[in-house]
Amino acid sequence: MRLDKFICKSTELTRSEAKKLLKSGEVRVNGDIAKNPAMQVHENNNIEIDGQTLTARGSRYFMLHKVADTICSNVDEGYPSVLNFLDVDKAFDLHIAGRLDADTTGLVLITDDGRWSHNVISPKKECQKIYRVWLRNPITVEKSIALIEQFTQGIQLQGESSLTKPAILALVTDTDVDNEVLLTITEGRYHQVKRMFAAVGNRVIGLHREQIGTLKLADLTPGEWRNLTEEEVAEFH
Ligand code: URA
Repeated sequence: MRLDKFICKSTELTRSEAKKLLKSGEVRVNGDIAKNPAMQVHENNNIEIDGQTLTARGSRYFMLHKVADTICSNVDEGYPSVLNFLDVDKAFDLHIAGRLDADTTGLVLITDDGRWSHNVISPKKECQKIYRVWLRNPITVEKSIALIEQFTQGIQLQGESSLTKPAILALVTDTDVDNEVLLTITEGRYHQVKRMFAAVGNRVIGLHREQIGTLKLADLTPGEWRNLTEEEVAEFH
């Protein structure tokens, strides 16, 4: 990790404050004055400020119940970022492991551990994301059989060169006609769920992420967040 990042992670300092401190020559790495913010360091290095050794704060992991009209971004742009909901130190140093659209609600994972979020997001890791989808055109049980097969085989999205990976489509109620379904996917292409239904002539009118891997919102109400437990974090290590 970069030295300035390490300092931020283990102190209250912002990145620019850390850089100033480095410039002033008050930081030592293994006994030597270090001034380069981009210097690569790891936890075994002895990093001192004013003679005090820093201990790196471990990475942070949260789940949040995203509400509509918020965005999964590190800046507020049109709508407020979901990071505003986290009542934690330096929330905007965190990032979102798998973004949702502004109008999509549900489970969002937030961390500062890039490797961990890669494991959540990368299609190669095949982590399942389950979405509850409300559709403009209801699906009849009869039609659903062909549709389920299409989603299993892969959907050709506009402008994409490869089919979507196998997805699991399930009707929610056992009535004859249903406009609420569950869709399980293992990728996160741009607007993927909306585009998959558009590709089969339907339209998503509501979208809510229920689950990522085995993680569920359970009793988190809209706008609420909590730390992940060690076991929950371990699922994506
Ligand atoms: N697919 C979408 O189309 N939107 C989301 O927010 C998530 C998945």
